[in-house]
Amino acid sequence: MVAARITVNGKESPISPAAPHTTVLDYLRERGLTGTKEGCAEGECGACSVLVARPGVNKPTDWVAVNACLVPVAALDGQEVITSEGLATAGEPGTPAVLHPVQEEMAVRGGSQCGYCTPGFICSMASEYYRPDRCAHPDPADGADSDTGSGSGSEHGPNGFDLHALSGNLCRCTGYRPIRDAAFAVGTPPEDDPLAQRREQSPPEPVATEYAQDDSAFLRPSSLADALRTLRERPDAVVVAGSTDWGVEVNIRSRRANCVVAVDRLPELRELRVESDSITIGAAQTLTEIERRLDGSVPLLAELFPQFASRLIRNSATLGGNLGTGSPIGDSPPVLLALEASVVLADADGEREVPLSDYFTGYRQSVRRPGELIRAVRIPLPLSPVTAFHKIAKRRFDDISSVAVAFALDIEDGIVRKARIGLGGVAATPIRALATEAALEGKPWAAETVAAAAGVLRAQGTPMDDHRASAGYRSAMLGQSLLKLYARTTEAVSS
Ligand code: FES
Ligand code: FES
Repeated sequence: MVAARITVNGKESPISPAAPHTTVLDYLRERGLTGTKEGCAEGECGACSVLVARPGVNKPTDWVAVNACLVPVAALDGQEVITSEGLATAGEPGTPAVLHPVQEEMAVRGGSQCGYCTPGFICSMASEYYRPDRCAHPDPADGADSDTGSGSGSEHGPNGFDLHALSGNLCRCTGYRPIRDAAFAVGTPPEDDPLAQRREQSPPEPVATEYAQDDSAFLRPSSLADALRTLRERPDAVVVAGSTDWGVEVNIRSRRANCVVAVDRLPELRELRVESDSITIGAAQTLTEIERRLDGSVPLLAELFPQFASRLIRNSATLGGNLGTGSPIGDSPPVLLALEASVVLADADGEREVPLSDYFTGYRQSVRRPGELIRAVRIPLPLSPVTAFHKIAKRRFDDISSVAVAFALDIEDGIVRKARIGLGGVAATPIRALATEAALEGKPWAAETVAAAAGVLRAQGTPMDDHRASAGYRSAMLGQSLLKLYARTTEAVSS
């Protein structure tokens, strides 16, 4: 096995002597790349954002911004990373470095005061700067002034810049308007831009990694069969994909594992297949990849993704991870329950497919057996035409839900033929609202039916009082959510 190495700003270095749990952030800072900052160490602030060369959606390579505080450096064995220091280019001897266009815009538009958040913003902004289809989708409704960048407050710039690319970056002192000005002012990468050119070649292949120190190891098997064998031999192993959950455990709760097994680059977990009767999404596709590859073709997922954490998190997080943690407040389970999805589980003896409605068995418990991996999520087709996802949280974006409700309804000739409703945050597991579904099916989609079904929905689950919301509020929000869906559908008909 070749010693683990990482390429940072074009220079290859050994990962050793970092411990298997050492984060990319700590690794970079220990090597003097202190532009990458630690703010929260739990994926909330983006001060640690760096760029990683990943398989692209529209080009061979995408420059993807990730939270360096969450990813173990051993997970980037053989991979290429760019930090804020690597974006500027060296000038002539005796002259200062030439700022990257994103850095230049941040500087001239006053996007940085204390500067603590700035390198993280720069990397997230650079990732969006290099997004291949950015300039193809400017927001014509924006009306922003192309010089000042100020305008209607739209979340897309006239240059196609999606402000959600910065949703995982916090600034405490500049205020966001000058940062938005900079984002909306960046142009198109010139043809001789080295990072733009780099997108035309494939990213580094995943590398089979066995990185061990003392009694802990980080393993990256090269195939599903290898991974399943390893999990059978090491039942104590922690399985990670994007590390967005495990990274928090390591940093904030000081958890350590004897063995971490990375599955995020296994080809068998990376498919996205659309067939006549189903869509199969590999468990290790990141949420950003799914969002961009499906491109709105599953409206309920398209409604979910912008509300599922920040872009930085979605660049690493996976559906498999969200289901694997089994959290009752994960955002994807209510949506996948409404879509009647099933989970494909694999172990060394073969595969089985379990309806998601049978998957969760208790608080953070599921039917997944030791040694089993989630290989894929399968969504049956055709999709129900009337769908909605309502996430009730204290902030509009980047927050944990108090309650989440997903609806998928077939309404024909004014009659509800089929209703599927997924709920999160109202029980020890995500659940289907079966009684409400029954209260709707076969009835007219009319105010009386909906009012009665909303009453049933309010009584579903066993919501609790906690610091996010009271049980009463959660119940009330369930009922409101159905009334809101009804109001929206009737508005659509009358307009
Ligand atoms: Fe805050 Fe990484 S340090 S997201
Ligand atoms: Fe100070 Fe953003 S410039 S935190």
